[in-house]
Amino acid sequence: MARFCRDFLNKKAAKVMASLGWTNWKNSFVTALINIAAPALPCNNFFGAKRAIYRTAGLLVGRGAKLGSCISIYSQGIIMIGENVWLGRAANFNVPNGAKVMIGESCDIAPYVKFMCGSHLIGPSSRRAGSCTARDIVIGNGCWIGTSVTILGGAIVGHGTVIAAGSVVLPRAYPPNVLLAGVPAKPIRGLEP
Ligand SMILES: CC(C)(COP(=O)(O)OP(=O)(O)OC[C@H]1O[C@@H](n2cnc3c(N)ncnc32)[C@H](O)[C@@H]1OP(=O)(O)O)[C@@H](O)C(=O)NCCC(=O)NCCS
Repeated sequence: MARFCRDFLNKKAAKVMASLGWTNWKNSFVTALINIAAPALPCNNFFGAKRAIYRTAGLLVGRGAKLGSCISIYSQGIIMIGENVWLGRAANFNVPNGAKVMIGESCDIAPYVKFMCGSHLIGPSSRRAGSCTARDIVIGNGCWIGTSVTILGGAIVGHGTVIAAGSVVLPRAYPPNVLLAGVPAKPIRGLEP
């Protein structure tokens, strides 16, 4: 009986959530709760607890990764945070269904960095934000991403990259061991491998 009730409620909840566009409704529901609680999470401690919390929302969080507070997650896709990453406060993930954000190990991500996998095709003049698109973002190992950087879907950032504060990283593959800066971000100079 208990199992029947549980299955029934699960199906009901799945239906309601699907009508809201939440296909992976359990993760979406947990994520929504975590987004509400995120500002209350301590920024510079309780990292083990925060890893556990974000794993329950379906994020793949590597060993030793340190997540700040106020992280916002709008994701039906996959978010992988490598081992020993520092993810600064108020990081923002927009990862539609079918897209992935993969952050390599030992990266340092300053506050207010946005990972924007979702976009639109340019539509007709009646509505320029046309059909939705979703592309992956890949960040190599050892990168340092400055504050308020925006990374667009389709960007592949090589290992050992520094991205200067406020840069906008475009959907393209960048070489490893460079300083990227500006809007749009361009390699300014090479760095020691
Ligand atoms: C990139 C950074 C590390 C400076 O590195 P640097 O090697 O000392 O670079 P320089 O200051 O010598 O600048 C090199 C070039 O990059 C440009 N540049 C540096 N920062 C830039 C930025 N944020 N946006 C655009 N261009 C930038 C400089 O104008 C300079 O160009 P020029 O050679 O044409 O004059 C620094 O500007 C930065 O963005 N730091 C991140 C700070 C941050 O996010 N802190 C949060 C805590 S982690």
